[in-house]
Amino acid sequence: MSDAWNPDQYNRFAAERERPFWDMVAHLEANGAPTVVDLGCGDGRLTQALGRRLGASSILGVDASASMLERAVHYADATTSFIQGDLATWRDEEGVDIIVANASLQWVDDHPAVLARWMESLRPGGQLAVQVPANGDHPSHLVSGELAAEILGEDDHVAVNVLAPEDYAEILAALGTSVDVTLRVYLHELASSEELVEWMKGTALTRFRERLSAEDYDALLAEYRARLLERVGRRSPYLFTFKRILMYARLKPDARGAHG
Ligand SMILES: C[S@@+](CC[C@H](N)C(=O)[O-])C[C@H]1O[C@@H](n2cnc3c(N)ncnc32)[C@H](O)[C@@H]1O
Repeated sequence: MSDAWNPDQYNRFAAERERPFWDMVAHLEANGAPTVVDLGCGDGRLTQALGRRLGASSILGVDASASMLERAVHYADATTSFIQGDLATWRDEEGVDIIVANASLQWVDDHPAVLARWMESLRPGGQLAVQVPANGDHPSHLVSGELAAEILGEDDHVAVNVLAPEDYAEILAALGTSVDVTLRVYLHELASSEELVEWMKGTALTRFRERLSAEDYDALLAEYRARLLERVGRRSPYLFTFKRILMYARLKPDARGAHG
């Protein structure tokens, strides 16, 4: 992972992608000046904005992508900082008050183990807010999944890695938290169904860009566009329905993580 991430492509739909971020953090309570970590922080704009909203004493953005972090340095300030790291193995020995992860957990597998590691990095009473896309059954993902199987010999990350909402509720409850898990359908009105390709270029298709030559990637995009438009039709405007899972968990006072 990956300089195939392109902040400009990702931000073409910044407004649509931002709504779930603020929904994800809506339950967070900022007591005192919390220490916060944003895992898979992307270009850092929302990391800095969240730190300000929570009155954080510090907020650390962690991301694997050098190109995203190059952009993120512009949002570094007295309380906001960024490091390169892997959210799959991330842990904090000293403990933090709040962990957030927006649209990033789906890129790694074994969510029960990753969530357990994150909860162990929370101080007593600490809070976790996570948003993952759960749109693996939409044609935009089904087609990228088909092509991933055919060309890369791999499964679609979202389809394979993301669990059912009730599984997340059970996993987080078993980790000693009070939990709120919601499955929400977002409606994104795109100018046309062709725009779906632009949307997916900013996220799920980055894996092809990482692995294919420029020429093969262009051919892949043409094939993706053709197959997708055959499924969804050429429509203008196009209502893109997008399911997302929003999780909020708070360590119960008697729950002891690594820092209890
Ligand atoms: C869809 S973007 C979301 C960015 C940001 N959270 C936001 O809401 O704008 C996903 C981000 O996760 C990062 N990412 C993917 N896998 C990762 C990993 N294993 N470790 C750290 N970051 C990862 C990508 O580099 C990318 O910046």
